[in-house]
Parts: sequence; structure tokens; C-alpha cells
Amino acid sequence: VYPITFKKDEDYKIGGVSIPYLGEKYGTPLYILDKETLIFQAQKYINSWKKYYKNKYKVLFAIKALPILEVIRIFKNYGLGALVSTGGELYIALSANVPSEDIYFHGNAKTLKEIEYAIDQKVGAIIIDNFDEYEKIKYVLSKKDTKVKVLVRIIPNIEVNTHKSIRTGQTDTKFGLPIEQALVLIEKINTEKNIIFKGIHSHIGSQIFDISAYVKLSEVLSEVYKELNSKNITVEEMSIGGGLGVAYTKEDNPPDIEDLAREVSNKFSETIGHNFKLICEPGRSLVGRAGITLYRIESRKELGIRKYVSVDGGMSDNIRPSLYGAKYSALIITKGDREEIFSIAGKHCESGDILIKDFSGLWPNPGDYLITFTTGAYNFSMYTWYNATPRPAVVLVENGKDRIIVKRENYEDLLGGQI
Ligand code: LLP
Repeated sequence: VYPITFKKDEDYKIGGVSIPYLGEKYGTPLYILDKETLIFQAQKYINSWKKYYKNKYKVLFAIKALPILEVIRIFKNYGLGALVSTGGELYIALSANVPSEDIYFHGNAKTLKEIEYAIDQKVGAIIIDNFDEYEKIKYVLSKKDTKVKVLVRIIPNIEVNTHKSIRTGQTDTKFGLPIEQALVLIEKINTEKNIIFKGIHSHIGSQIFDISAYVKLSEVLSEVYKELNSKNITVEEMSIGGGLGVAYTKEDNPPDIEDLAREVSNKFSETIGHNFKLICEPGRSLVGRAGITLYRIESRKELGIRKYVSVDGGMSDNIRPSLYGAKYSALIITKGDREEIFSIAGKHCESGDILIKDFSGLWPNPGDYLITFTTGAYNFSMYTWYNATPRPAVVLVENGKDRIIVKRENYEDLLGGQI
């Protein structure tokens, strides 16, 4: 399912709704989400794991990719839980009525306050990242008559081929503990009667195209599983994290969710079997393709060295090109007929605010629409107030209908808590 359809002489549509109509109705910049694609991706994850794991699997939506109540509710209705990384994300997941046992809480610098909040809300598991966190959990529990379930995050020593800011499984990382230290921690946990050890957590990075990295990870997890079994410690759950990539441009060729499930499952069949609950935590691959962003073209410039087309948004609504050099595909809706190569710039006060460098397409006119694709993940969530640009609205489309699921901010909102 690709969200955009176009028949010659007809409007560009998403979810059966005309895109220019959405621009007129809600203004630009505008985040547009296609519900059918969200559901399609969720079902793909569920069906792929179910095939090999029957009921012994859980898909947690990593809500950092798109922390919107309506999106989380849609996934919840298909049986997905939520992975949260802060107290704020936990609050959002709870506000979307995700059952607390379906919420897992990870993060490398959880505060006492966040830990207490998670324990009081009875989350499904706290994913312990380090020894200090273990001490904090013990401290919080010493004041309460309650228990908490935990996973322990290991460093699997797997280096994946993705941007260095979003690699997490290599030897030198701030996330998790080396396996030997994790084993020591797990033995300590096992002496506590209120901290229930459930299993092992891992996450090797984001925007990953290579399934063999997950196969290697499954081998590492199997080794840890066996090691713990030999010490009479039962491992009920293991998480392979998230990270499956999506296509941003024609050159990107991400693997299929079904292939990931089959390869991981085969590896575990070879090593330890399937006698544990398999957890995965996708973010980007659930929501990335469901989103597009609609802009208006404001101005053009023809320099000898390069041509520029500037739009009414930019790094505030999509920081990924300037932060990671991320590439995007775009489409311009114009009556212009001159093919050109030009850079698509945002409106922000930085030369680095370029959404797409050297785009080739029709030279547009001010007022024309520009669509960037695959903006469902880490665009809205990494939005910034730089240059005091109110956050764009988010509209959900389905079967020819559209509705706002996040309101556009106005100038007053920019004053926020300012005194
Ligand atoms: N699990 C853990 C423990 C994570 O840290 C993450 C993402 C995920 C799951 C979900 O990963 P995904 O399936 O979305 O790749 N801001 C960056 C991405 C950072 C990912 C952080 N962790 C970007 O815009 O590319």
C-alpha cells in the first residue's frame, strides 16, 4: 500500500482525499497521515510474528516515532502495546488508554520520579539499563508494598550500517550493559523479592536494512538465554528492539517485515526454540510511510551556482535532513513545465535548512504545493520551536474522509509557560 494515488487529470489523493483540498482546508505546512497504511503495517507485524510464535509475541509501538494519541489508539485496537522512553511518553501512552501491562519503559537516565511513576502505574516492565537504575528501583520499592517486572538491556556488540547517531548495539554505546555486567545485575535482581526478572532486552539501532544483523542478535540473545538457564534463571521474554528501515528514496531497499520474522524465528529454532515471549519494538517501520508533509512554495531564486525553491516549513517540522543528512523524496504540484535541478529550502534562519539538495523536477510558482514523502516517523516528534514557528496540524485521512487529530499551534501557544 502506498498512500498517494494519482490518475492523470485528477487530483493527487491520499486516503481518498484530495491533497490540494486538504491544503486549502487546513493550511500548510500540514502533516497528513493515512490510516490504512498505519493499519496495514500493524497487521503485517502481527501476522508475521503470529505465524512463528502463535501467541508468544508482543509488538510494542515505540511511540517516540509518532507520539499522537489517535495513532497509539489505532495500534492499541490491533493489539499493539507501547514502548516509552520517558515519563512524558508514559503519560501519553496512558492517556491513549494503552493497558499499563502493555507499556514497557526503557531509557538510560531514568529519574527517581520517572521510576516511581512507572511503578505506581504498574507498567508491564521497566527495562533496566544500568546499576544505578537498579538501586533507584530498590529505593522506590522500599517505600511501597508492590512489585515491578523488569527486563535487563544488554549490549550485544553488533555494529549496524546506519547513521552513527542512531546505532546502539555496538561495544561503545551509552545504552545497556556489557553481557558480563548484565549477568551480574540479573543475579542481584534475583535476590530481590519485589523485583521480578522477566528477561533480556536489546536494540541495535534504527533505519536498518540488513536482516542478518537481527539474525546475529538472535544468536547473542540465545547465548545469554542459555547462560542464564544454566544458572537456573528463567528467561520468559526477549526483545530484539526496533529499527527496521523504510524507503525514503528510490535507492532505499528495506527488507520486508515477514522476512525479519522468518529469519529471526529460524535462528531461534536452531538455537533455543521458541519457549519464550518474543518482543519487538518498531517505530519508524510502523508509521514512516503513512505520513506525508504538505507545504506551499513561497519563493524561488536562480543563482549562477544553484537554484533554490523555498517552502513555508523546514527544519522545525522535519529536522532529519539537517541533523542526519537524511534524504527525502518530493513531488511538486504545478502547472509549470520547465524541468530544472534545484534545492528545496526551508524557511529557517540557517543555511543548513535544506529539505532536499539538488532535486530534479518542474520549476514551480509561488503558491504551488510541495509534498515530501515518508514523513510519518520522527518528524512530528522531533518538531522544534526554532524561529517561533507554530507546530503544524496533523490530519488523519481514511476512505475519503479527513479529520484533525492534532490542532495547529497558534502564536499564543508559542508563549507557552513564558512569564
Ligand atoms: N526500541 C528502542 C530501545 C529504541 O531506542 C528505539 C528507537 C526503537 C525501539 C524504535 O526504533 P525504530 O523502529 O523507530 O527504528 N531520531 C532518529 C531515530 C532514533 C531512534 C531511537 N530509538 C531518526 O530520526 O532517525
